[in-house]
Amino acid sequence: MKGKILTLLENSVRHRGLLAEHGISFYIEFDNNKLLFDVGQSGVILRNAQSLGINLEGLSWIALSHNHYDHTGGLLPLLKYLDKKPKLFAHPDAFLRPRYIFSPNTSPRDVGNPYSLSDVEPLCEEIVLQSYGKEIVSGIFLTGEIERKTPFEDVGDDFRLANGDKDPIWDDQSLVIDAPQGLMVLLGCGHSGLVNTLLKVRELFPSRPIEAVIGGFHLGSASPERLKATADALKEFGVNQVIGGHCTGWKASLFLSQNVKFFPLFTGMLIEL
Ligand SMILES: [Fe+2]
Ligand SMILES: [Fe+2]
Repeated sequence: MKGKILTLLENSVRHRGLLAEHGISFYIEFDNNKLLFDVGQSGVILRNAQSLGINLEGLSWIALSHNHYDHTGGLLPLLKYLDKKPKLFAHPDAFLRPRYIFSPNTSPRDVGNPYSLSDVEPLCEEIVLQSYGKEIVSGIFLTGEIERKTPFEDVGDDFRLANGDKDPIWDDQSLVIDAPQGLMVLLGCGHSGLVNTLLKVRELFPSRPIEAVIGGFHLGSASPERLKATADALKEFGVNQVIGGHCTGWKASLFLSQNVKFFPLFTGMLIEL
């Protein structure tokens, strides 16, 4: 075994002793490197790591998919817990605050990262903020900003910036592991669109097969046309496993399960590489 992806946290749970919350966090071991991609909304990942027998000491990197609280809120509890300071990689907008969601019949809610850079800086060995992609350790890449190319995908829901403008969530990025079985593509919320994300992955790795897409696909408000176009694209890209959870949405999950090789993500899911 070259490594593993362990879902430390997502919205659902099946195993005794683990906790779930709205959010996502993946623990990755690959070629003796330990990383986290997202950290959930609270410190629940600390308890789940302990229950799963994972020692988080020795993490080399924490990478953030995007700004939202359900992906970044666990940052301070985690950094305070660790003895050795890790490095942190994120898009600069991952620390842009506030970030709102407007929902019918409720006041706008701030769904952004609860921390400022000055909160986390003293607890990190290094913070890398850049909008373009990077190989963070051997075989593990961040996509950087994802261009919006498909006509049928949008960010989903009504996200807004502080000035009231639509929030394009440019900080949304994915993590790609170049595993022996093919590329493993991890998404936080997939606000750029699952197909736009795959187009970016194909651009970065033109000759590698895509074995799996794993994470939140933010398709809760997707139209039937978008769902069909997404399933068609997954088939065209030859994605072998579609493992969706978090913000994917139940209708989208049902549709994908009927059209591609779909598996529901859950807290504690282990994928060997
Ligand atoms: Fe999310
Ligand atoms: Fe999000």
